[in-house]
Amino acid sequence: MHRRFAARFCSFACLASLATTACAQRPTDAIHVDDVSHVFRIDAGDMTYEFGVNEDKRLQTIYWGEHLSEKDHPQSPKASQGMSSFDSSRNTTPQEFGAWGGGLYVEPDLKITFPDGNRDLDLRYVSHSMHDGVLSVQMKDISLTVVVTLQYKVDDATGIVGRRALIENGTGKPFIIESASSATWNLPRGTNYILRYLSGRWAGEWTVNDQNVKPGKTILESRRGTTGAQNNPWFSIRRNDTTEENGEVWFGGLAWGGSWQIAVEQDAVQQVRVTGGYNPFDFGYHLKAGATLETPWFYAGHTSHGLGDASRRMHRLEMDTLVPHAPHEKLRPVLYNSWEATEFKVDEAGQEALAEKAAAIGAERFVMDDGWFGARNNDHAGLGDWTVNPQKFPNGLKPLIDKVHSLHMDFGLWVEPEMVNPDSDLYRKHPDWALNFSGRPRTEGRNQLVLNLAREDVRQYVFTFLDKLLTENDIAFLKWDYNRNWSEPGWPAVAPEEQKNVYVDFIHNFYGILAELRKKHPNVEIESCSGGGSRVDLGVIGLTDEVWPSDNTDAFDRLRIQNGFTQAYAPGIMMAWVTDSPTWVNQRTLSLPYRFLSSMQGSLGIGANLTKFTPEELNTSQKMIAEYKNIRETAQRGELYRLVYPTDGSEEAVTESVSRDKQQAVLFTFLHSSTELYPYPRVFLRGLDPDRIYSLSSIYGKASDETPASATGSYWMHHGINIELRGDFQAAAFVLQGVSH
Ligand code: DGJ
Repeated sequence: MHRRFAARFCSFACLASLATTACAQRPTDAIHVDDVSHVFRIDAGDMTYEFGVNEDKRLQTIYWGEHLSEKDHPQSPKASQGMSSFDSSRNTTPQEFGAWGGGLYVEPDLKITFPDGNRDLDLRYVSHSMHDGVLSVQMKDISLTVVVTLQYKVDDATGIVGRRALIENGTGKPFIIESASSATWNLPRGTNYILRYLSGRWAGEWTVNDQNVKPGKTILESRRGTTGAQNNPWFSIRRNDTTEENGEVWFGGLAWGGSWQIAVEQDAVQQVRVTGGYNPFDFGYHLKAGATLETPWFYAGHTSHGLGDASRRMHRLEMDTLVPHAPHEKLRPVLYNSWEATEFKVDEAGQEALAEKAAAIGAERFVMDDGWFGARNNDHAGLGDWTVNPQKFPNGLKPLIDKVHSLHMDFGLWVEPEMVNPDSDLYRKHPDWALNFSGRPRTEGRNQLVLNLAREDVRQYVFTFLDKLLTENDIAFLKWDYNRNWSEPGWPAVAPEEQKNVYVDFIHNFYGILAELRKKHPNVEIESCSGGGSRVDLGVIGLTDEVWPSDNTDAFDRLRIQNGFTQAYAPGIMMAWVTDSPTWVNQRTLSLPYRFLSSMQGSLGIGANLTKFTPEELNTSQKMIAEYKNIRETAQRGELYRLVYPTDGSEEAVTESVSRDKQQAVLFTFLHSSTELYPYPRVFLRGLDPDRIYSLSSIYGKASDETPASATGSYWMHHGINIELRGDFQAAAFVLQGVSH
């Protein structure tokens, strides 16, 4: 007999991971538990995930892939017998969550040092239950009262499963957790896999890397105290014949903005495992008697429809389930940001002049960036002193905010709450608030130090100043920046054995502040920025409305950056500004329409110095913004097809977004450089309704003369369109609008 349970995702309250609280879940029958065979089966979004309790009472993965028929009855898993004295059963069995002990050599999910010196741990199944749509499976050590609860939830639409572990100390004494992961995902055994991951650095984020999965281990990680740009906590693994549109892909992301690790391992029996959670480097969580450590949610899914579909499933999960107001998050307004125009030289008159121009071209939000507070005239001073600079704004922020409102825009403000310049009143008063090791140097980055947000007094300070700012001023939006990574992560105010808790407690307080601010100021939207794209992950996405992918605003570089970003994250949260040309980044000159079309593939912003724009440039901007408003829902919420990657020697880049109801599609085409008289390759659309008639209109640029004004979706997908693009750095974009059925 089957007892059926249900599970479903909910939004940011759950994601904050602090919140195991109120989250209304709609029951479905996605999770099935067979009480006889002790097999747990999840069926959702054309995917089946199965695991069960084996004869050793360990939890073992059975299957993860394309949906299996209901007619196939679950079989209890059998532990592997091992290969030899070198590769024991514990190593060759695909465990759901393997504790370190008994000679485990593959990546452990949990490793603990107990006060008596014992470090052996052996978790066995005890019980399971359902609560608020989450399946909880409890395991316990063979003798010690260490209880680990594995939690599972599933998103019906995408089949993406969320997993995490709760580690409870019932031993009566504190112990040190040396490593803790959220989950291990076991793929079908095999050697024909390619791992895709994202790497980068400041102004060069989101590089797509592909490599064969070979025997041994690949570590994706951040040791920086924050998400980082060097790797992003996302992976995809595909069969080696999988393409953008066909074939199997297993993919996922970790909802954690602190130091993290994802290990991709092919073991002795060619089992591929993906283990993700807290980074074990310098980890050592002191768990008091009776306390519980939660690991972050680790989400993962499967598709048989290629890399493009894997991305689209992630996008859907983010937009429909994870973002704070999911599934009803507001469309991103067209914003203006002052940073590239003025840098730190902000004042009332200068900002008002920019605001007038921004409103005239159609911006809906005006954001004042860095420089408005304390003694902030450059990046050497002022961080931490969050009072309005009286020279720049003698009457406070109100006159500027009123002006922005009178221009029918809302007002946004830049903050960097977790940082302090040594040259600030805050640091002079509280030097102990910065992360530090007693008596050791304090390494600065951009002339600043990181405040230890794990401290209750620092948490209070940060929450209080932000709350005051939002209470006293009519602010609709915060750009929350974070411009360096950690160094000397000491916490001298607590006992030495508790100092490493900073890796977890800091992030929990960061999430806690965001959640509390959102609750108190429900209409305020927040952008996560970290000198560009160093803080983009599924954790922060649950608490912020958009993210800043890179400080690199060169519209050509952005094609590559956006191609990498959208592997994992939705265009609906991806801010993209149109900035001045030549760009500060590469001194490359690009036409204004090219710059607009590059940015219009995501959530459009303007970051140029509009006071220097000619009347003609202002006119073009106004026209392009009006065009964007007509297609923004499709660009932000639609299904994204990356038709031609801008990388790997390609001279073109093409993306297409199709609205959820397939009534509209928007096509963006770019040419880097014409060669040898070749015409632009014909573009074949995807994802349209084959029988529906779509009219074609141009946002900018021309299709070839023989192109019909309207045709069926089938025609556009199979016959394709010839686009008239020639020269260097050219761009064109088109709208396909459904006219009948
Ligand atoms: C880094 C951000 O990424 C920029 O957009 C800008 O806000 C600066 N910080 C301000 O200091």
